[in-house]
Amino acid sequence: MLPCCRIAVLEVRQFPPDHASEIAIPPAAVNRRGAQLRVNPDAYAGAAGTVVAMTPPARMEAGHWRERPTKAHRPPQESAEREVVVQAAKDAGDSRTKARRIQVAAPALPDFEAALPLLREIWNSGELTNGRTVAAFERKVAELMPGREVVAVNNCTAGLMLALRALNVHGEVLVPSFTFMASAHAIVWSGCRPVFVDCDPETLNVNVEDLQRKITKHTGAIIAVYVSGNPPALDVLEKIAREHSLKLILDAAHGLGSSFQGRPAGSFGDAEVFSLSPTKTITSCEGGLVSLREAESARRLRSGRNYGNPGNYDCEFIGLNARMSELHALVGLQSLPHLQRNVEERRRLVRLYTGALAKLRGVRLQRVEEGNLSSYKDFSLRIVEREFGASRDEVRRVLERSGIETRTYFDPPVHRMAAYRPWAPTRSGDLAATEVVAQQILNLPLYVGLREDDIARIVSIIEAVGTRTPVRV
Ligand SMILES: Cc1ncc(COP(=O)(O)O)c(C=O)c1O
Repeated sequence: MLPCCRIAVLEVRQFPPDHASEIAIPPAAVNRRGAQLRVNPDAYAGAAGTVVAMTPPARMEAGHWRERPTKAHRPPQESAEREVVVQAAKDAGDSRTKARRIQVAAPALPDFEAALPLLREIWNSGELTNGRTVAAFERKVAELMPGREVVAVNNCTAGLMLALRALNVHGEVLVPSFTFMASAHAIVWSGCRPVFVDCDPETLNVNVEDLQRKITKHTGAIIAVYVSGNPPALDVLEKIAREHSLKLILDAAHGLGSSFQGRPAGSFGDAEVFSLSPTKTITSCEGGLVSLREAESARRLRSGRNYGNPGNYDCEFIGLNARMSELHALVGLQSLPHLQRNVEERRRLVRLYTGALAKLRGVRLQRVEEGNLSSYKDFSLRIVEREFGASRDEVRRVLERSGIETRTYFDPPVHRMAAYRPWAPTRSGDLAATEVVAQQILNLPLYVGLREDDIARIVSIIEAVGTRTPVRV
């Protein structure tokens, strides 16, 4: 019996062309030496390459790696890994670089083998959507959010649209501009009008004073966001909503695993809406969860995810098809037991980052208020150019050239997007903090599996940019 190698370590020169990375690919993706192959991990989706060398010498056969069983070269242990050098199709050169590419995020998937028997069960049952697995997933999530009903949907954007519909919101909806476009899209799709509110540059969350100033007789609801997982001032927001009879919806896309003064995200406002897309603390591949305070709103949301059909085909309002499939629910259900561990690991990595970055002048870290816990869906910081000595964009360029992926959530802020011109504020300086923060924001790589030496490397590059020390890439 010839041994099979499970992992191939690849060097792919792409993104940018002169950076190497190690990537695990399933052997099934590999055909033979010299063959074109496609690698498909998150950061390299669709990258194509040609196998140019293998160490130790080996040959590939249908679907897996095999040692050539010669006397000169004995097959190694079953568990041995092979190194395969793959040259990206776009890049003809053949020099190898040493640094690994570091992606900004990576999905935290549950164990595939453990999920297989359950997947087979769903497959054989013929019940493919909105069935027992979805119901079980909803029940398990609801256990984390006492007193709430949880409804699973196909993504957070649809969950936000349906929350507005289920809560019968009309008129103006106050929303920070420093957010992901979906928070505002849901408002416009629901026939309401977004009114943009400024952010607090320290917490990156909504500025409650500005929010209060913008309440009018037309205001129907507030949407506040857990930016990067950081809980907004939920006690103050609940009080404001109560005093002005407004609905309070939390865009908690980043917030699964966060808590506010000891209470878990999912327990606040009229509705909290989570995302389960691949970059979140747990994923269902695509998916969303809506936690609702009142049973009637939960009933309407269930009806809304099913076209607004309460069950008798006499639609009570214009809903969506926003059902979660059983397969997605299975991925979510299998991931849920890892939520706490994932969030704790993210917090540990953030502590390493902050310990090292806190000493750099001009680097501002997102403030999480005392007593609150962030899920750290993202690690966000601001580069204040005049203190740091270089701009956010310079830092980003050097990191990118060094093979380190970053993001700038949320630049541009929503009110600056072409699609939002009709709703952009007319008074200059209305969103002054948002304008500045958007130019400074930087999100560094953060995911379960990020290595301590990756963090050290990232921090040392940032430091070098600030002190104008040449960075070897
Ligand atoms: C703040 C915020 N709200 C809403 C969404 C939309 O989530 P989904 O992709 O699940 O629709 C995202 C996506 O990441 C987000 O960052």
